[in-house]
Amino acid sequence: MISAVDVTKSYQGRHGIITALDRVSFQVRAGDFVVVIGRSGTGKSTVLGVMGGLLRPSSGEVFLDGESIWELDERSRARLRALKHGFVFQNASVIPSLTVLENVLLPQAFLPQPTVANLSLAKGLVELMGLGSRLHAYPEQLSGGEKRRVAIASALMNDPPLLLADEPTGDLDSETESEIMNLFLSLWRSGKTIVMVTHNHQLASYANRVFKMSGGRILELPGQNGAERSIDCEQGSPREAQINVREAPRP
Ligand SMILES: Nc1ncnc2c1ncn2[C@@H]1O[C@H](COP(=O)(O)OP(=O)(O)OP(=O)(O)O)[C@@H](O)[C@H]1O
Ligand SMILES: [Mg+2]
Repeated sequence: MISAVDVTKSYQGRHGIITALDRVSFQVRAGDFVVVIGRSGTGKSTVLGVMGGLLRPSSGEVFLDGESIWELDERSRARLRALKHGFVFQNASVIPSLTVLENVLLPQAFLPQPTVANLSLAKGLVELMGLGSRLHAYPEQLSGGEKRRVAIASALMNDPPLLLADEPTGDLDSETESEIMNLFLSLWRSGKTIVMVTHNHQLASYANRVFKMSGGRILELPGQNGAERSIDCEQGSPREAQINVREAPRP
């Protein structure tokens, strides 16, 4: 489904160039639940942004279903994002001036075809997140965890096949964290492909594949078998993730 080929992303920092991604290559298959772990500053948000068509790589290519997303013009990329990606941003991405329901409906505005607002679907998603009684609340009236749930409902609004989530459980208590992770599991079981980044190693146990980031590189930890497995990623012996550039699908 996604293939990153030799992707480098550098930023101009105050004291010089920061290479957040250093010739990274990997593949995510349709139906994977990938958890990317790594310490703060290791490039997790960067890799998600590059995969999600939000952050242009300095070099390299990202293919989504065989299409090179960074070769598309901005309009086509926006269309692709609206149809295929649900993106949960690191800082609960809700618009303060919109209610819960309006926030959840918002992604429909980016669909290529004008759509009649699908109120019942949006309400259903809000209910699924346990916020059925808060439909008309504004974000400032919600807790951090509730805002994150609104952001997740919003990411699901266009029924994207791929969910990209950046620390969706950051700063949450462990009970709310489990609730959100169990929701992700059920979404995964219902057929979504999920890529989630986190600094919390324990969440790797939910994934069927675990990648670890350090030093601008990405490694796949072997032997993840899904939710039943509980692992200590620090003790795993990392091996280089799928790196055969020649095998990457070309458009
Ligand atoms: N816009 C930017 N300009 C300069 N440097 C940046 C920029 N964005 C990120 N960086 C740097 O790139 C590196 C990777 O950042 P990134 O946000 O991807 O890390 P992260 O793993 O998501 O960290 P965290 O767990 O704290 O969210 C860091 O060293 C960061 O300081
Ligand atoms: Mg980050």
